[in-house]
Amino acid sequence: MNFHLFLLSSAFVAVSGQLDKVAKEAGLLYFGTAVDNPSLNNQNYLRIARDPAEFGSLTPANGQKWSNTQASQGRFTYGSGDAIANIARQTGQQLRCHTLVWYNQLPGWVSSVYSRDQMQQIITAHIQNVAGHYKGRCYAWDVVNEAMEDDGRYRNNPMYRAMGVDYITHSFKVAQQTDPAAKLYYNDFNIERCCNAKINATIAMIRTVKTAGAPVHGIGMQGHSRVGMSPSKREMKETMARFSELVDEVAFTEVDIRHTKLPIGAAEREQQGKDYMEVVGACLEMPKCVGITVWDFTDQYSWIPQQYPGEGEACLWDRNYNKKPAYHSIVGLLQSAASSGLRTSATPAPAAAVAVTAA
Ligand SMILES: *[C@@H]1O[C@H](CO)[C@@H](O)[C@H](O)[C@H]1NC(C)=O
Repeated sequence: MNFHLFLLSSAFVAVSGQLDKVAKEAGLLYFGTAVDNPSLNNQNYLRIARDPAEFGSLTPANGQKWSNTQASQGRFTYGSGDAIANIARQTGQQLRCHTLVWYNQLPGWVSSVYSRDQMQQIITAHIQNVAGHYKGRCYAWDVVNEAMEDDGRYRNNPMYRAMGVDYITHSFKVAQQTDPAAKLYYNDFNIERCCNAKINATIAMIRTVKTAGAPVHGIGMQGHSRVGMSPSKREMKETMARFSELVDEVAFTEVDIRHTKLPIGAAEREQQGKDYMEVVGACLEMPKCVGITVWDFTDQYSWIPQQYPGEGEACLWDRNYNKKPAYHSIVGLLQSAASSGLRTSATPAPAAAVAVTAA
C-alpha cells in the first residue's frame, strides 16, 4: 500500500457516522439492506438491522417471494414477509418490497399453467393478494424481477410462455390498481455496466410495456459484482442516464461485491472499498438515483458462498460484525457529498420550494 492510500484509509477509519444518516444528509432517500428470516433470532444482527440511522430501508430477502406467499394455489401465507415488515413498522424504517413476479422460487403449480387466460388470472390473484396485504407499507415494489436474458432475449419463463410480454404489462397494471402509492419497479442484474445487450433489451422492453400502459416508475439495478471487476462509476452513470429517460427513479437494489479468491488481504479489502464507492458515487451523481440497498450487510448471512462456492466476504460487515474498510469508505464519501452539497446544489432545496408554494 502506498503512502497516499494509507492516509486515505486512515482518514476513513476515523470517520463516525452511520449509513442511512449520512446518505440522507447527502440527499439520498435511504441506505437500505436486505434482511432474511434466519437472521432474526440473532441479537448482534438485529441490533444493526433495526437501527434506522444505519439502514433507513429494509427489503425482505425471501419472505415476500411467490414460494413463501402462495406455495399452493389460493393459500396465502405472510409470516416470513411480515416478520420483516413488522420490524420496519416498529422502527419507522421504510420497506422496499420484493418481489411479485419472478421465474425463480416459483411454485411448481404456476409452472404448469399454459393458457393465457389462466395465467393472467393467476398473476392477478397473486398480486391483488400479496400487494394488497402490504398495501400502503411499501415505498417500492419490485413488480417484475429478471425478465431478460443476458443476450437480450426475453427470459423463457412460465409467464412469458403463457402470455408473451403482456405478462409484464399486466403485472404492473394490477400492482398499481392494488397499491397506488407504491413506486413500481422493474429489477434485474447485469444491467449496470453500459451498454450491453441486456441493458439495450431492457430499455426496449420498458418502452414496449409503458406504451402498452404499464406504470413503470423505477428501474432497479441489482448491483451484484466482483471485487476488481465491478463496473466503474462512469459506466453506471451512463446506464442510469439512459434509464432516467424512461422512468422517474432508479436505485441500486441488491448490492454486494464479492471476493473471487479467499482468503483476502489488506489490498483486496481496500479494492472492495473502492468498488463500493463507485456504486455510491454513481448514485450520488445521478439525480434520479434515490437510494442504495445492500443484499444483506454481514458475511454471516450473505447468499454468496452458497451460490458461488469459493467466493464471498461480499458485505460491509464481516461475519463477526466488524465494519470493513468498505463501510468506512462509503460513510466518508457520503459525508463529503453532504458537506459539498453535491445533490442539493443541482435542485432547489425543499424548504425554498415549500416557501414558494405557500406564497
Ligand atoms: C447498445 O446501445 C448502445 C446505444 O445505442 C450502442 O452504442 C451499443 O452498441 C449497444 N450494445 C449492444 C451490445 O448492442
